[in-house]
Order: sequence, then structure tokens, then C-alpha cells
Amino acid sequence: MKGKDTREGLLTLLREHRGAFVSGESISRRLGVSRSAVWKQIAQLRGAGFEVEAVPSRGYRLLLNPDLLLAAEIAAGLGTRCIGRELQCHDSIDSTNLRAWHCGETDVAEGTVVIADEQSAGKGRMGRTWTSPPGVNLYLSVLLRPDLAPRHAPQFTFLSALAVARAVEAMSGLRPTVKWPNDVLLRGHKVAGLLNEMSAETEHIHFLVLGIGVNLNMTTAQFPANLRYPATSLAQEKGSAVSRLAFCRALLRELDDLYTLFHERGFAPIREGWEGYFDLVGHGVAVEDGGSRLTGEVTGIDTDGALLLRLPGGEIERILSGDVRPLAAAALPPARGF
Ligand code: BTN
Repeated sequence: MKGKDTREGLLTLLREHRGAFVSGESISRRLGVSRSAVWKQIAQLRGAGFEVEAVPSRGYRLLLNPDLLLAAEIAAGLGTRCIGRELQCHDSIDSTNLRAWHCGETDVAEGTVVIADEQSAGKGRMGRTWTSPPGVNLYLSVLLRPDLAPRHAPQFTFLSALAVARAVEAMSGLRPTVKWPNDVLLRGHKVAGLLNEMSAETEHIHFLVLGIGVNLNMTTAQFPANLRYPATSLAQEKGSAVSRLAFCRALLRELDDLYTLFHERGFAPIREGWEGYFDLVGHGVAVEDGGSRLTGEVTGIDTDGALLLRLPGGEIERILSGDVRPLAAAALPPARGF
């Protein structure tokens, strides 16, 4: 057994005992490793922030349980069909999207999820960076290999946004909204961003990477000063900390349910679910794309996911990409402190 597997097995065992002592001998028997290997991994767990009490002749017990994103804990009883069938969890990497892209180019299975505690080069949309401090948020990327033409790829943005919105609602009891095409908001402030990337040829998608960043426990001071869009975290809105582990598991299940639904019934139910969180119909917005800027009133979403905008002259424009900003955004209340 490798050190990391021993550590995760050990943690599972200590957790199963819910704060009661487990003897070193029974741990080494259950995990099939030496007593000194157990001791070494206890020291590693302590180094990672777990408080493990050791009492001679009684054994070990877990006192403090930090909210780490470990593969064994995410996977335990997850029950998904595809998403998360393989989990690659990292302490600190450049970007989960970059790693998942590399997985896509090799033989890694569809549904693999790359997760990082911290990203040193988190990627945002349009070449921006995504602030990714350790220990507080969720940064993950899902590798998919759908047997589809590239024109279907934008639909996966709706799929991930809907999954995030549902997970946010389930974990906080707060009702989020979605901003076309790919942000999830609470009280008009951005709580999650999505960056989907595709490798394809003319008629066929090779693979998709669904990148998802959710601000879970970030404090006001941790947000960069020069944000383009007002941001918040789930904890700021809810007023208490959110378990990263529980959120991650909830999100993977939502993604899995929606991916199954997409296979069974196509994009329509995904779009309808997403529209349930979309509150900009009938509102004035500005859409910026590269150097161009259009303003108009949102009339809805087309069957393929394009934004329908009534321009000042009355004609309807189909918008395929861009940054949407409600024209009343300046009047937003400030983010709550945490
Ligand atoms: C946005 O600009 O709104 C999109 C942000 C996407 C951030 C996530 S964090 C996990 C994944 N890895 C990355 O490098 N980016 C995405």
C-alpha cells in the first residue's frame, strides 16, 4: 500500500470510530501495513492539520477533523455512474483545467475529476485569472468524452451551471440565480464561475473539460481588489462555514444526474432547469464580447442556449458568446462581511 493510500485508509478507519480509540495493532492489521508505517502516517495527518490523540495501550483517536478534499472521502458511498469514477486530488497545482486537459490527451477515463486544494495559476474566462487560495474553496475540473459534434459543447456550460446552482441551493437553503451563460450568483454577486474547454475536430468532440470554481468559505479580505464583477462566497451569504467535502460530493452527484439526463433526453430538460434560475428575462442588459458592446432587453434563451436580446430598434439578436451585465448592476447591495 502506498503512503497516500495508507493515510486515506487510516483516516477512514479513525472516522468510522467517531472519536473513539482504535489500537495501533488493529489499524496495522486492517490496513495490512507495519506499526511504524501507521505511526508515520499519523504524523503526516497531524502535519496536515488533523488532531490525532495517541495514548499508550489504547491507540489513536481523531479529535479535530479539518475539511480536506481527499479522494477516499469524496468517493465513499458517492454512488455516481460516471462523474467521479476516478478522482485526482492535489494539494497545490497550477490549474485543474490544465491537468484535466492533459488527462484528455492521454487515455484517462471519461468522468475523471481533478480537484485541487489550491491553484497557483487558476484560469478564468477570457484569459483572466481565478483567485484560488488554499483551504477555503472548491476548484475542480471534469473530463467528459461525449460522442457529439462541437456545436453541442456550449450546452455543457448550462449543465455545469445548473449543477452548481442546485448544489448551492441544497447546501445553503439560499436560492441562487444564473447569469448567462456561466456564472452562478447569490444576491447578484458571483459565487461560482465556470470555464469549459473543448478539444475537437470539425465533426467530433475529442473531449471536454468542465472547470468549476466555487467560492465556499472565502472571506472578504481574500477577494482581489480589482474584481470585474461583484463577488461573494457561500459562507458570506449563509453566515456560517460550508463543508468543502459535503459540497463537493453534492456537486458531483448533481453533475452525474444531469449528464445522465442529457444522455437520455437531450439538452431541453437541462435548459429548462437552468431557466428556473435565470431571472433576467424582461431586464435590460449590456453584452460585451471582445471590443463590441450591445444593449437590449433579454427576451429568453433559444432552444440551443443562445441568449435572445431585443435591441433598441426592436429586432431580436441571437447572442452566442459574451459577458452579460444587468444594466442595474451598479445598484447591487455590497457583499456581506464574513
Ligand atoms: C470565470 O472566469 O468565471 C471562470 C472561472 C473558472 C475557475 C475554475 S476553478 C477550477 C477550474 N480550473 C481553472 O483553472 N479554472 C476553473
